[in-house]
Amino acid sequence: MVSYKEIKASNALINDATAPRVAVFVGGTSGIGKLTVSALVATGASVRIYLIGRKSSEERTRDFIQELRAINPKAEVIWTEGEIGLLSETKRICSAIKSKESRVDLLFLTTGYAPFTTRRETAEGIEITQSLGYYTRVLFIQHLLPLLAAAEAPKVVGVLSGGMERANVNLDDLDLKKPGNFGIVKAHIHYGAMNTTTLEKLAIDNPNVTFIHSCPGWVNTGNVRRGLDSNSIKAWLVWLLLEPLIALFSFADEESGQRHLFQSTSAAFGGRGVPWKGKPGINSLGKPADGLFLVNYKCDCTPNAKVVSLLREKAMGKIWDHTQEVLRPYL
Ligand SMILES: NC(=O)c1ccc[n+]([C@@H]2O[C@H](COP(=O)([O-])OP(=O)(O)OC[C@H]3O[C@@H](n4cnc5c(N)ncnc54)[C@H](OP(=O)(O)O)[C@@H]3O)[C@@H](O)[C@H]2O)c1
Repeated sequence: MVSYKEIKASNALINDATAPRVAVFVGGTSGIGKLTVSALVATGASVRIYLIGRKSSEERTRDFIQELRAINPKAEVIWTEGEIGLLSETKRICSAIKSKESRVDLLFLTTGYAPFTTRRETAEGIEITQSLGYYTRVLFIQHLLPLLAAAEAPKVVGVLSGGMERANVNLDDLDLKKPGNFGIVKAHIHYGAMNTTTLEKLAIDNPNVTFIHSCPGWVNTGNVRRGLDSNSIKAWLVWLLLEPLIALFSFADEESGQRHLFQSTSAAFGGRGVPWKGKPGINSLGKPADGLFLVNYKCDCTPNAKVVSLLREKAMGKIWDHTQEVLRPYL
């Protein structure tokens, strides 16, 4: 485990020279994304942050941005509105960023929630939590890769379930569309494995960029309630049983933000970034080298070697081809 003391010591070294100069937060309007934005701004470093979110979050996010300005006048936080569950909107937002920036140092992705409900699709015909937790994330990465490649220590951090992969992915129905295939457990397995295999493929193809698939542990953000009808029995059970448990065992907000800032900036993962004197992180190929890192809530690397090598061998190609087919109209 990387102790909280070590995390704070590393983050204390973030300054104008080591901070990501341009950071894009997709999902920074709530939860872990928002906590990480706060931690980054609180370093006092000169940063420009694109804070992307949907219209319904604009008012409260503008208040949040005012608070951030008071904490660090050198941080420029730019509210960028868009329906981040949609691929067409993702493309539009990326075009806007590309027209203004020549580099992106950090892309931080946290959109999504656990699908406790029945299957619901976006206007583009994709199950909503798969769009948020996988497809739009990959599209953001693919669009912004040229800008990431122009940075000195570029990082992509996706928060979901790195290291928790399971091998039983249904390669004939990756979008869980066939009757009986959709459910919270299957969705969890599919979306986690799809993230890891695709991030690993992107890491192999783009060795100049460091990728992290983070598993955040429990953080009491209200994430489990998202998507549930507030008057339903499930919502009531979550409120009665699950949320008190999460509240009891979760990380404090502050620590979660600091831990994700560490993952976003430290040379522990891949060698680029804020200097790190501890053990070098082990990538998903089992090597102390750059690439994709599966990082758990203790900030340990958890390569999950047996499962990930099975996925690499049997699933990566199919998942990649299928993903590109879905994303092609928006690339
Ligand atoms: N929190 C945990 O304990 C935990 C544990 C394991 C995994 N995870 C996963 O880690 C990721 C980050 O978790 P979190 O707790 O930070 O999540 P969160 O607080 O619920 O925030 C997720 C982000 O997703 C956005 N979002 C949710 N539904 C959306 C929709 N229909 N359309 C557009 N945007 C939507 C939210 O935007 P708004 O602000 O506009 O609502 C927010 O910016 C999630 O994928 C979550 O499933 C979380």
